[in-house]
Amino acid sequence: MKKVSMAVIRRLPKYFRYLSELLENDIRRISSKELSRLTGFTASQIRQDLNNFGGFGQQGYGYNVEGLHVELGKILGLNKSYKTVLIGAGNLGQAIANYKGFEDAGFNLLGIFDKNPKMIGLRIKDIEIGDVDDLEEFVKENDIEIGIICTPKYGSQDIADRLAKCGVKGIWNFAPADLKVPEGVTVENVHLNESLFTLSYLLKQNAEK
Ligand code: NAI
Repeated sequence: MKKVSMAVIRRLPKYFRYLSELLENDIRRISSKELSRLTGFTASQIRQDLNNFGGFGQQGYGYNVEGLHVELGKILGLNKSYKTVLIGAGNLGQAIANYKGFEDAGFNLLGIFDKNPKMIGLRIKDIEIGDVDDLEEFVKENDIEIGIICTPKYGSQDIADRLAKCGVKGIWNFAPADLKVPEGVTVENVHLNESLFTLSYLLKQNAEK
């Protein structure tokens, strides 16, 4: 398949989210102009993005919402479910573990691990927090595909190494660290700070106008 740029890939989840909302509101068909108004991308940008995967609109008809939603779901790999574990059951880890939306999207949390003896044995939802020393065994036994790292920066590389070594292919990293992983393992970083600092920049710019 043709190599798709990261910029396009980053826009796909946004299209998918809008299409999900349209479906929830029982809207079955949308013009490219309307989709452009909703997403903030130009109609030609949307067309170009989707053309990377074979183009889905029809001249004079626009897009079939359900069809495009299914196709984008497949493109994003959301037509399957993933087995995940979370490491670091502190404030952030608990918030993520408790969020139902990830489960609904097919990201099934099977295990939660921490190194603090006071946390081990407690439950989040129906999952008992395990000792991080047992991480490898659990990952292997349960064919875990994604590890969610919510530990402090210190120790996060060690967790990533251990996850990669026992076969985890994807790491969703919240620790403020640039993790090094072997080929074949993908890291997606989430740094809320960066988004917050962008907001700060835009506020400053607005005030200076
Ligand atoms: P926290 O201190 O409440 O929780 C951290 C948890 O990780 C604790 O329960 C601790 O026992 C556990 N832990 C530490 N080392 C571990 C190890 N080697 N193995 C297993 N468990 C370990 O901290 P909080 O507020 O939940 O933040 C967690 C991480 O997320 C920090 O790195 C923080 O900087 C980061 N963070 C990132 C955000 C983002 O946008 N990416 C937003 C907020 C926090």
